[in-house]
Amino acid sequence: TKVTYTDAQGQQHVLDVSAGTSIMAAAVTHGIDGIVGECGGNLMCATCHVYVDPRDADRLPEMSDDEEAMLEDAVAEHRPTSRLSCQLVMSDDLEEIHVEMPSEQL
Ligand code: FES
Repeated sequence: TKVTYTDAQGQQHVLDVSAGTSIMAAAVTHGIDGIVGECGGNLMCATCHVYVDPRDADRLPEMSDDEEAMLEDAVAEHRPTSRLSCQLVMSDDLEEIHVEMPSEQL
């Protein structure tokens, strides 16, 4: 999946993320600032908060109650497009996803 990460300054990073890997894990592996992933993807931290482009939202895995609850602890503004990127695991049928990263995670 081609994932475009846009940071709070408008700078873009594009990664090719393999199926089974989350948007958070790929960002951390490639040193993209803007996603921290403190808890390692266990829905315990909300430092992997992103805003998903509304055009892409429907194509992503649905939000669990745990994700929804944890998002309330996110530091940055909560928007309708907010997701925790450790829960956004890529699959072969997802071609392209765009996410925006908030200015702060901690
Ligand atoms: Fe901690 Fe996503 S990495 S909730």
